[in-house]
Amino acid sequence: MCSESKTWLVLSLLILVVNYNQNCVHGEPQVPCLFIFGDSLSDNGNNNNLATSAKSNFKPYGIDFPAGPTGRFTNGRTTIDIITQFLGFENFIPPFANTSGSDILKGVNYASGSAGIRDESGGHRGAHISLGIQIANHRVIVSQIATKLGGFEKAKQYLNKCLYYVDIGSNDYINNYFVPEYYPSSAIYTPEQYAEALIDELTLNLQGLQDVGARKHVLVGLGSLGCIPIHISDGSCFQDMNNAALIFSEKLKSLVEQLNKKSPTNPEFIFVNSTTSAIINAVGFTVSTVGCCSSGPYGECVPDQSPCTNRREYVFWDECHTTEAWNLVTATISYNSSYPDSSYPMNIKQFVEQDIKMESEFIKEFISLPGGSCANE
Ligand SMILES: *[C@@H]1O[C@H](CO)[C@@H](O)[C@H](O)[C@H]1NC(C)=O
Ligand SMILES: *[C@@H]1O[C@H](CO)[C@@H](O)[C@H](O)[C@H]1NC(C)=O
Ligand SMILES: *[C@@H]1O[C@H](CO)[C@@H](O)[C@H](O)[C@H]1NC(C)=O
Repeated sequence: MCSESKTWLVLSLLILVVNYNQNCVHGEPQVPCLFIFGDSLSDNGNNNNLATSAKSNFKPYGIDFPAGPTGRFTNGRTTIDIITQFLGFENFIPPFANTSGSDILKGVNYASGSAGIRDESGGHRGAHISLGIQIANHRVIVSQIATKLGGFEKAKQYLNKCLYYVDIGSNDYINNYFVPEYYPSSAIYTPEQYAEALIDELTLNLQGLQDVGARKHVLVGLGSLGCIPIHISDGSCFQDMNNAALIFSEKLKSLVEQLNKKSPTNPEFIFVNSTTSAIINAVGFTVSTVGCCSSGPYGECVPDQSPCTNRREYVFWDECHTTEAWNLVTATISYNSSYPDSSYPMNIKQFVEQDIKMESEFIKEFISLPGGSCANE
């Protein structure tokens, strides 16, 4: 990183100043690119052409989305769609399954409904793209980016400015550990050992991402999986599942802590707490134990049925996935809540501003840029 050369410094400063001013004038996104890894909470069409029952490219999915049903498992925008907008992107990030007509330099969404960290998770629902395959797909995109930018080194320099959003693990519980008729995991592992095994596998996958340039990762913890409508019985949440999910999330937070020790002044990982009390205390929701649409055996909407009309009051859209209204709550909290346990060690906004702040302080220190030049332009 550090070079002794003066020319390097001058050149870098010049580039920084140009970037700095461009950010101000053109309202560029806070990061140049966003890559998304995950499951149905983030999928935006990757399952549409897969042989699986885990699909959502039919009505009433997308009823509140401008393009209608797209393969998003909700009525409108997903949480990461909303975060994408908060970050200042003009368009949503395209699904890996169809990047045609999109600029892959801005990012790609690899998320796949029913997928987990473990390859087998979600297998009883049919085909899916597990985390390992999502990372392999990312390597394909990285090669294309390298071709566009003139080599892998240039691509890496670009890719380490991007944000990498990883929200996965729910299906390793919902569609694996707690489905003993299909998966032996619960006979092999205690919840503690299982969470450990998942974290180990996730760590290897994150290493794979870092190998191709990833430097800024958002790792999202699991929600209260036992309280999604499909798991509620006699009005009670499935506590064993909540407890198992909590063990995973605590370990995920520890992983973030451990990985950040390598660069304490410039953390490369943040943890988002999906069960923070900031979320639990969200107001305006009157229904949280049933979904808004009529659901089939897997808790997903039955095609072409009319959903509830007061969708803003529902936490759940179907029996497994939240409404856009709720996604707005979770997106807002992960993006800029100052609530102490909602993100660690900082929220997404602070995370992406880290570099901007470092750059601008650096510039001001060396070449006394006139203060407030952004506001005046
Ligand atoms: C692929 O994406 C483009 C651009 O967003 C869109 O116009 C097109 O309809 C999509 N194709 C398929 C098969 O979904
Ligand atoms: C997330 O927030 C909840 C509620 O404040 C807290 O009980 C839990 O310990 C937090 N989870 C982690 C992993 O920090
Ligand atoms: C968080 O960000 C949203 C979207 O930019 C904004 O509407 C809201 O006021 C922000 N909240 C805080 C506390 O900064």
